[in-house]
Amino acid sequence: MQIKSATFVQSYPEFSSMPEKGLPEFAFIGRSNVGKSSLINMLTERKDLAKTSSKPGKTRLINSFLINGEWNLIDLPGYGFAQVSRKTRARFGDMIQDYLKERRQLHCAFVLIDSRIPPQAIDLEFLDWCAISEVPIAIVLTKTDKSKNTQNQENRELLRAALFKRGWEELPELFESSAVKRNGRTEILTYIDRILNPRTGN
Ligand code: GTP
Ligand code: MG
Repeated sequence: MQIKSATFVQSYPEFSSMPEKGLPEFAFIGRSNVGKSSLINMLTERKDLAKTSSKPGKTRLINSFLINGEWNLIDLPGYGFAQVSRKTRARFGDMIQDYLKERRQLHCAFVLIDSRIPPQAIDLEFLDWCAISEVPIAIVLTKTDKSKNTQNQENRELLRAALFKRGWEELPELFESSAVKRNGRTEILTYIDRILNPRTGN
């Protein structure tokens, strides 16, 4: 898929403020600071479409972007952000869970996980919740440029093993990405294209 246009649409403070109807949506979600906004900018080839920050918790709203006039890319706030109050964290949690569970036009949520670290309880619990809630997901292992291939591979296998152990029978599609090296771009965009155009995407 070529990105011909990518524009910011709107930020929503909560799920209920989103318009009910709309184009197909693909969402990006993961722990705060995992690289969501960077991945979005890399995919769309727009430097500052989504705001990035070295300080966790930058994205606090549901941000919507229109891509090619065809589909909406949704940047969700990070989960498990420790530096905010419990109340604020709970509000983010509700907002994310409502969106993922209720959004009819959601075609796939890309769950971003840091490739440098072994599987964390918070990510595994979130993946389990997605499975139980029947949210269509794919996994993206981010920041692969930051550590050795062997380390990334090891963590990937640990993640697979952890999910099987937790009762997963079939694992979601898994991508690896680097916003710095632009890895994973073609694969993720092709995946989106195939969901949008199932018959032409062979
Ligand atoms: P929040 O919105 O705060 O939840 O964070 P986010 O998940 O959107 O992360 P963001 O894209 O802002 O990136 C966080 C930090 O990681 C920034 O300093 C980025 O420059 C860095 N980063 C993101 N992706 C990559 C990557 O692929 N490689 C490297 N080396 N750094 C990355
Ligand atoms: Mg962000």
